[in-house]
Amino acid sequence: MTAINPVTDLSKDGDIAVVTLNSPPVNALSANVRDGLFEAFRQAKEDASVKAIVLICEGRTFIAGADISEFGGQMKGASLFDVENGIEDSPKPVIAAIHGTALGGGLEVALCAHYRVAVPSAKCGLPEVNIGLLPGAGGTQRLPRIVGVEKALEMVTTGQHVPAKQCFEMGLVDELAPEGKLKETALAFARKCVAENKPLKKVRDNNAKLEAAKGHPEIFANFRKANARKFRGFLAPENNIKCIEAAVNSASFDEGLKAERKLFMELMMGEQSAAQRYAFFAERQANKIPDVPDDTRTIAIKKVGVIGAGTMGGGISMNFANAGIPVTIVEVKQDALDRGLKVVRGNYERSAKGGRFTMDDVEKRMGLLAGSLSLEDLKDCDLVIEAVFERMDIKKDVFARLDGIVKQGAILATNTSYLNVDEIASATKRPEYVIGLHFFSPANVMRLLEIVRGEKTSKEVVATAMKLAKTIGKVGVLVGVCPGFVGNRMLAQRTREANALVLEGAMPWDVDRVLYDFGFPMGPFAMGDLAGLDIGWVKEQSKSSTLRECLCEMDRRGQKTGAGFYDYDENRNAKPSPVTEKVIADFRAKQGINPRTISDDEILERCLYPMVNEGAKILEEKKAIRASDIDVVWLNGYGFPVYRGGPMYWGEKVGLQKILERMKSFQAQMGDAFKPSALLERLVAEDKKFSDIK
Ligand code: 3HC
Ligand code: NAI
Repeated sequence: MTAINPVTDLSKDGDIAVVTLNSPPVNALSANVRDGLFEAFRQAKEDASVKAIVLICEGRTFIAGADISEFGGQMKGASLFDVENGIEDSPKPVIAAIHGTALGGGLEVALCAHYRVAVPSAKCGLPEVNIGLLPGAGGTQRLPRIVGVEKALEMVTTGQHVPAKQCFEMGLVDELAPEGKLKETALAFARKCVAENKPLKKVRDNNAKLEAAKGHPEIFANFRKANARKFRGFLAPENNIKCIEAAVNSASFDEGLKAERKLFMELMMGEQSAAQRYAFFAERQANKIPDVPDDTRTIAIKKVGVIGAGTMGGGISMNFANAGIPVTIVEVKQDALDRGLKVVRGNYERSAKGGRFTMDDVEKRMGLLAGSLSLEDLKDCDLVIEAVFERMDIKKDVFARLDGIVKQGAILATNTSYLNVDEIASATKRPEYVIGLHFFSPANVMRLLEIVRGEKTSKEVVATAMKLAKTIGKVGVLVGVCPGFVGNRMLAQRTREANALVLEGAMPWDVDRVLYDFGFPMGPFAMGDLAGLDIGWVKEQSKSSTLRECLCEMDRRGQKTGAGFYDYDENRNAKPSPVTEKVIADFRAKQGINPRTISDDEILERCLYPMVNEGAKILEEKKAIRASDIDVVWLNGYGFPVYRGGPMYWGEKVGLQKILERMKSFQAQMGDAFKPSALLERLVAEDKKFSDIK
């Protein structure tokens, strides 16, 4: 065995050379890895006794892509193209042996091997689109040559990780190895190549599948049309499509490669990819809690209790059933329990009909959910999540009772949206085991989980909650106790301004349009109509004191009644409403407000700058560990466009100085709702960024 460099070894098994990479955690193609690969292949090719070469990785995965942390900086060492050419042009067969994931640059390298062998648990994909890029080392030119244009379009624009069995069926993988026997199988495959004098298959030379798509521009037009909504605002999907188009229409592979390079660099130098790369690392950073080390003991969660089978309880339970963890759901009345379980079954059946899993899986998951009317049935749960009405007295009562029932050492969690977790914890004798687990609606779909650390919550409980988030496929972000925590606290700023803008002269659809164009999936008024304007509205107490109350009083309670801020047709298409316009005009008149014209710029600034300012207050009060955690909350829980990085990242791009100045001028006109946070003032004075806060 020869150590080529600290991350690359070259060894021999008879007349087969084995190049082994070992660069934890994911064998990303850093300068060291590229140099090691380049040199190992050079030596293996030069060694006359070597007849074939196997490329294999140590650790949990094959190469998971280029090293994203190197992007934007000065590239050192061998280029990825040097490495790829060194492999593809080898006069001896090269076999890539794949386990874990072969992603991005990793799959691009594997596509330069003459053959690919993988274990069934392996996955292959080109996920660059998720960081605002495209596979820039030949991936867009080689992939369609193997899997065809349609499948390639789908893979590069979704970034999906395709299971090895499917890859085998598409010809992306040449042989499946038994699990745990990758190296033996790859070596045997290499020997067979030598013995049978198998051809050195270069993907770049295989044009048959491209020919089939030539002269059919409708393939691309249809694909663009079918995905227009999904791709809205993003630049990367279009550049990915253009690359596949170039593969079909270019006179040669090299010409296609040139087009790919140009489109890649366009994205790489752009603001969207920078924001999306930031988001990638922000999400991983959120897992790191400075005073809770990685080796902190965690509590095994084998059985979960959920209290309340309403909107949230049902969705929360589904997350655990999906992960194979049994759940007991407790309700006060049988009919509420039946209703809740029926909604869950309906959701599962819809997924099964959509092809996400089988009807058998529906039964398996439903079989993990038990209903009960007694808290006593939760006594042996490891975690109980309360999702009852948002009232402190009810929550305290539930927690006091749980404290007497549930075994010691179990976690008692609340899904409250706004209430004080410490006060809820005070109803128990074990506040160190109490935590907030704030799911977002629909709880089985939304990726965000705000994990609310109480004053007395133990580190063990925090570590368990962070780990649990991963188990159930959520992005956990640790936040502190304050009204609305991070997400809803900032949202309240936007809601206040959206309403104020309408009173001052904008129309709800103006505000919605500006935020939609910014990249949110919908604006606050359309969102209100969707959720129902009557959430928290009590008919008997309604006094036409807000626009919402006025609309509810007219039975315009949102989409469900066919009208809210907007009018809806039978297909729930929204139209600006003359009725709402009149309600607004009357309301303004009653308040003595003289409407004025409000610019789109003002709408955006008024809605978003106070959010950035509130984020700064949250940091100042240490309710979030770092600014990027706030961004992770907004990206995963509130539809903030990922290509803008999140409110704090975006705020810095706008310029903290500009935001501070605008907040001051709004404050002078409209009062202290716009008072700049002390942190914002300090950062601007010291010419610093949020990430400089230590
Ligand atoms: N570059 C640099 N670091 C990377 C990385 C990459 N491509 N992929 C993962 N990492 C790091 C993570 O930041 C994390 O670091 P940390 O422990 O310090 O926080 C560590 O590796 C482990 O990552 P995860 O926590 O995400 O581990 P998982 O096991 O959950 O997931 C994975 C593994 C599926 C490989 C996931 O990390 C992933 O999706 N990585 C990104 C893959 C990707 O986008 N590849 C394409 C890169 S761009 C490219 O190749 C351009 C080319 O076309 C020229
Ligand atoms: P919901 O009204 O849909 O459901 C509450 C359920 O709790 C009802 O079915 C009720 O019968 C049951 N319940 C009430 N008291 C109970 C008790 N003592 N024991 C057992 N069951 C009891 O309410 P929703 O929307 O599910 O909200 C629940 C909690 O989740 C609230 O704290 C809310 O603030 C929070 N939340 C709600 C979100 C939403 O979008 N709806 C989002 C995030 C959090």
